[in-house]
Amino acid sequence: MEVPLTVNGTDHRLPIEDNALLLDVLRERLRLTGAKRSCDVQVCGACTVLVGGEPVSSCCFLAHDACGGEVQTIEGYAAEEGFAAVAEAFERRNAFQCGYCAPGFLMTLKPLLASGALRSRADVERELSGNLCRCTGYRAIVDAVCDLAGVAP
Ligand code: FES
Ligand code: FES
Repeated sequence: MEVPLTVNGTDHRLPIEDNALLLDVLRERLRLTGAKRSCDVQVCGACTVLVGGEPVSSCCFLAHDACGGEVQTIEGYAAEEGFAAVAEAFERRNAFQCGYCAPGFLMTLKPLLASGALRSRADVERELSGNLCRCTGYRAIVDAVCDLAGVAP
C-alpha cells in the first residue's frame, strides 16, 4: 500500500513496509543520503532529521509515523536562505573534520536556534550532548554554535 510522505517540501507516495525505518526510506528510496547511519540504536545523533519540526533519530523511527507530517533532512535545510550563515560559522571555527556527524548536529541545532533556547555555553553543551563526533571536535563545534546563538563562547 502506498502511503504519503512529505520530505523537504515535496509530496511523495511510496510503498512503505510497516516496519520500515525512516532512515532507510530517506537514504534508499529517496536517495537523500545526508542523514547518516552510525550507531543504529539512537545514541549518536548522526541520523537526526526533523519530523514536524522536531528532531528524531531516523534510525529508530518508523517511516509510517512520519506519514502525514513534514520531514526535513539536511538537504532541505541546506537549500534554505539562512543556511549559508550557519555553514559559514562552522567553517570559520573549523568545527568539522570528516563531517560525518555534521548533518545530525545541524538538524538538531536548527530548532534550537529558531526557538532561542540557547542562552549560554552550558545550554549549547547540554542540548547537543545527544550528538556524537568521532573526530572529537566538540570544542570547536560548541564555539561555532555559541557564535550562531550569540552567546559567549
Ligand atoms: S545512527 Fe541513529 S542515533 Fe546513531
Ligand atoms: S567531524 Fe568526523 S565525526 Fe564529527
